[in-house]
Amino acid sequence: MANVIVIGTQWGDEGKGKITDLLSRSADIVVRYQGGINAGHTVVVNDRTFKLHLIPSGILYPQTDCIIGSGTVVDPKVVLQELDQLKELGVSTDRLYIAETAHVTMPYHRVLEQAAETQRAEHKIGTTGRGIGPTYADKSERVGIRMLDLMDREMLPKRLRWAVEQKNIVLEKLYDLPPLNPDEVIEQYQIYAERLRPHVIDASLVIDRAIKERRNILFEGAQGTLLDLDHGTYPYVTSSNPVSGGACIGAGVGPTVIDRIIGVSKAYTTRVGEGPFPTELNDRVGDLLGDRGAEFGTTTGRKRRCGWFDGVIGRYAVRINGLDCLAVTKLDVLDELPEIQVCIAYELDGKIVRDFPSDSRAFARCKPIYETLPGWRSSTKDCRALADLPSEARTYLKFLEDMMSVPIAIVSLGASRGQTIIVEDPIHGPKRGLLNV
Ligand code: GDP
Ligand code: IMO
Ligand code: MG
Repeated sequence: MANVIVIGTQWGDEGKGKITDLLSRSADIVVRYQGGINAGHTVVVNDRTFKLHLIPSGILYPQTDCIIGSGTVVDPKVVLQELDQLKELGVSTDRLYIAETAHVTMPYHRVLEQAAETQRAEHKIGTTGRGIGPTYADKSERVGIRMLDLMDREMLPKRLRWAVEQKNIVLEKLYDLPPLNPDEVIEQYQIYAERLRPHVIDASLVIDRAIKERRNILFEGAQGTLLDLDHGTYPYVTSSNPVSGGACIGAGVGPTVIDRIIGVSKAYTTRVGEGPFPTELNDRVGDLLGDRGAEFGTTTGRKRRCGWFDGVIGRYAVRINGLDCLAVTKLDVLDELPEIQVCIAYELDGKIVRDFPSDSRAFARCKPIYETLPGWRSSTKDCRALADLPSEARTYLKFLEDMMSVPIAIVSLGASRGQTIIVEDPIHGPKRGLLNV
């Protein structure tokens, strides 16, 4: 039995979907614990590509239960579309459950977010435009609508009418936008509620029972460490806690039940949306990484910004998440490069800085200090063991391990399940504390 958290160590899109799918083989339950449909997790199985926004990446295994946890925000329309698509592809969705305490994204959340982003002009965050921030804002303000409310047939119309009327005041008075029709919203959400009803559960209770039965639980993070509301590059972050600590809150379990924490890192760095990115490459190499890595957002289709691997961020992710080990993805994307740079520290206002600065304005002034490593200029996509890799690729991985003081347990060399090297068992292998004290 092992309870494992999988998180992104950078700005999202590290390949969490692939790694979660891979590890779900031995999971009884996969729980998404935060975020909403801003996430886009790609899983490739037998040449079929599944793009999941809210449904956990474990859904492709017939024996695995999947739970959308309490810390998520649920857009019912999109979840239903996702359920329908999976059914069409022959994937059973009977084992999908949604926490009754998860908050619901409403149509006004999207409209309000788009209006706010427009008004922010050059200060915009570059969000996915899915209403994530406003849904979490309502949750914090204690005026949100939860799955529980959606399930309450008697109360729902009254609750929704009040909510829409409140938001209409803001839409009309603050943004000069047309109001939403409460009757239409009520009718639509009543339909969604009935379709989702069989999936809604007390998730924390179900997870607790599973823990007591010593079943294996995998907690799947969305976004990444630097998009964390508390620990990321604020304000250019998302509105939830993707870091490992968020798993306990978002799933409703105590920290003592967690056995392992696995970080997923790309072999380089990408970012979508606004905000500082010290190792960003606005040149031919950046374009090459984008082309070879097919770096376009899974959710919005936006071009991802690309740059070299950033070890300062890597060390920060190890610290903030308490990582036991790493899965390094997309190593194959570096195959053609004659040399590869890795950021080992920053120069900030004339001083060398090795720790991630928590002040985003300072972070924006950081200039990367690079170490140059030789490339391998040969294909790694068919390598299946460390020994198959060119020696320069092994040196690159060892360099990352030493720089971040964390063992690399998994190396990914392509999108499909098979294109993976398991260096050591990420769940049952030695613990980080024993390896790196
Ligand atoms: P996530 O949000 O962290 O799950 O990542 P995304 O799915 O948004 O983006 C990762 C992209 O890289 C997807 O298109 C994956 O299919 C793809 N991918 C994952 N691992 C690898 C890899 O090792 N090599 C290559 N070339 N592609 C990969
Ligand atoms: P996965 O799970 C990459 C980014 C957006 C924006 C910021 C805030 O696929 O890794 P939001 O809509 O959350 O309010 O946007 O966060 N962002 C992501 N970037 N991968 C994601 O998810 C992301 N989810 C949000 O681009 O910069
Ligand atoms: Mg993604």
